[in-house]
Amino acid sequence: MEHFSLLWCLPSGLLILIVSARYCVGLDNESSPKPNFVLMMVDDLGIGDIGCYGNDTIRTPNIDKLALDGVKLSQHIAAAPLCTPSRAAFMTGRYALRSGLGAVGRVQVILFLGGSGGLPPSETTFAKLLQREGYTTAIVGKWHLGLNCESRNDHCHHPNNHGFNYFYGLPFTLFNDCKLGEGSDVLADIQLKLWNLTVLLGLGLLTLVCVHAAGLLEVSRMLMVLVALLWLLAFGVWYVPFRLHTWNCILMRNQEVVEQPMNLETLTERLVNEAEHFVERNQHKPFMLFLSLAHVHTPLFTSKGFAGKSKHGIYGDNVEEVDWVIGRMVNAIDRLNLSNRTLIYFTSDHGGFIEDSDAHGQKGGWNGIYRGGKAMGGWEGGIRVPGIFRWPGRLAAGKVIDEPTSLMDVYPTLVNLAGGQLPKDRVLDGHDLMPLMEGRTERSEHEFMFHYCGMYLNAVRWHPPGSDAIFKVHFFTPNFSPPGAGGCYEIGICMCHKEFVTYLDPPLLFNLATDPSESTPLSSETEPRYAEVLQRVSHAVEEHLQTLQPMPNQLSWENVLWRPWLQPCCGTFPFCSCSEANGTVPSAA
Ligand SMILES: *[C@@H]1O[C@H](CO)[C@@H](O)[C@H](O)[C@H]1NC(C)=O
Ligand SMILES: *[C@@H]1O[C@H](CO)[C@@H](O)[C@H](O)[C@H]1NC(C)=O
Ligand SMILES: *[C@@H]1O[C@H](CO)[C@@H](O)[C@H](O)[C@H]1NC(C)=O
Ligand SMILES: *[C@@H]1O[C@H](CO)[C@@H](O)[C@H](O)[C@H]1NC(C)=O
Ligand SMILES: *[C@@H]1O[C@H](CO)[C@@H](O)[C@H](O)[C@H]1NC(C)=O
Repeated sequence: MEHFSLLWCLPSGLLILIVSARYCVGLDNESSPKPNFVLMMVDDLGIGDIGCYGNDTIRTPNIDKLALDGVKLSQHIAAAPLCTPSRAAFMTGRYALRSGLGAVGRVQVILFLGGSGGLPPSETTFAKLLQREGYTTAIVGKWHLGLNCESRNDHCHHPNNHGFNYFYGLPFTLFNDCKLGEGSDVLADIQLKLWNLTVLLGLGLLTLVCVHAAGLLEVSRMLMVLVALLWLLAFGVWYVPFRLHTWNCILMRNQEVVEQPMNLETLTERLVNEAEHFVERNQHKPFMLFLSLAHVHTPLFTSKGFAGKSKHGIYGDNVEEVDWVIGRMVNAIDRLNLSNRTLIYFTSDHGGFIEDSDAHGQKGGWNGIYRGGKAMGGWEGGIRVPGIFRWPGRLAAGKVIDEPTSLMDVYPTLVNLAGGQLPKDRVLDGHDLMPLMEGRTERSEHEFMFHYCGMYLNAVRWHPPGSDAIFKVHFFTPNFSPPGAGGCYEIGICMCHKEFVTYLDPPLLFNLATDPSESTPLSSETEPRYAEVLQRVSHAVEEHLQTLQPMPNQLSWENVLWRPWLQPCCGTFPFCSCSEANGTVPSAA
């Protein structure tokens, strides 16, 4: 017996040695068990603009190839139909109002870099958790989640303080103001009123001065000074939008403003180069890159090679340029032999902006068969976006998943894959996608999804267990204008509060599984489960509301309005101006 165990001791000892040696080798960076992540998000891209989602005239071969080689999600849902709240939810894995980014009134996104609202420092982004697992992280492109709190350089909302080792791009977003001559997105109608007020006050002041000078009437000096001050104030506020080009449209590298105003002509090329360089610099250790494109937000700008090439004007040219960017990023991963240990993700922050068009044609996207678009609350066109994951060797090629999934799912999926811990002190609204994508389960964990319009609960989606149905209940709908139109053409963008919406009692009910275009509301006559659905949903709403905690509103006027002392600036304020020399090679992380 003793001989027997001795005889066994030696080989098993050797085996342990070999296994542990291999384990150690397995931990070196060449065959690191931690996958890399490349996340690519387009701005305002409609689901109907992509070949693999049914478009047959726009050419998107690279995106289509990504879907062929990976998993395509057909019911991938943004947590909000607008940039700032959708991105906040994406970064935190939680509905935007949990971080105070749900709009109360007409301000629905961050409007000025010189405001104080943004993603609160108390939020933990997935990037921060990946850093804790040894990842090097970068965001290249658009942020739009705030910058400063109290002073020009505190950068309390800056990506570097939200888990990103490296930032190159737009702390704000692309806006019409960024291209001179395109008009203003921000408060254009208020600006007109202010102009009228300025003219009125100016005329009034002139009259007072003349009447006084001519000795027709004794006008008190106080009154003249008061009118003059009011005139100055109105003029000053009216003038602000003309400075937005310089104030909002800037590029930063980490904490430094490197270009102000930014040069759109070379922007795409510079963003892709930065993204590629980051991957090259970090290819031997785990990394996460978030390439957040400025395209296809207006003003549409197209690099030379793409102008006039598509069948859909400048908008189509933009989508085809996006496809080229995606192709270059995927090629970079493949060329570096990183494909088998890199999870690639492609999506859009929300649906296309269908109201955006002018004499030259459509400038916003196309949401396919889905009703509504950007900023239209719970209507499907504003929240159903493309969602593609590719990971050769781990995810089956060509798989299509029709179950409901959310952009908020990226958070737990990445953190789990990286071996990290999900936060236990707060509610997460996303679910790990790997079980679904690897086919270990057939059902999405999203039995209910809550669709917000600003901070107001607009609609609820219910995927009842054991059923294919996808019920959607709308509690209110945005008022389209002119009446009968498919969007808010008169104001330019829909809003979520009071006079801008119609409250519905009973609510509208659709079954997206049979009516994805939300064209025929169901009633107790046409849907046997009608009463049950309304009851289950109202119960779910009650439970959901109990998980919410009051948060300071980051989009209040007080937090949004421009303040000179918060304005990022290179050079001397207010004459901020600098430009990046071509071909600058970044030195950081
Ligand atoms: C393809 O996209 C263009 C541009 O957005 C749109 O006009 C067209 O209707 C789309 N085609 C299909 C088949 O969805
Ligand atoms: C592993 O990473 C370290 C630093 O992170 C680097 O210096 C080294 O070259 C890498 N090793 C390999 C084999 O790539
Ligand atoms: C990638 O892998 C191929 C074949 O395994 C090899 O020939 C090539 O040199 C590798 N490229 C890099 C950049 O490591
Ligand atoms: C990736 O994995 C597949 C199979 O899992 C293998 O055939 C292929 O050679 C691998 N590619 C690289 C670049 O390592
Ligand atoms: C930057 O590039 C443009 C066109 O590509 C060129 O005209 C200009 O001279 C370059 N500027 C510098 C500083 O290299």
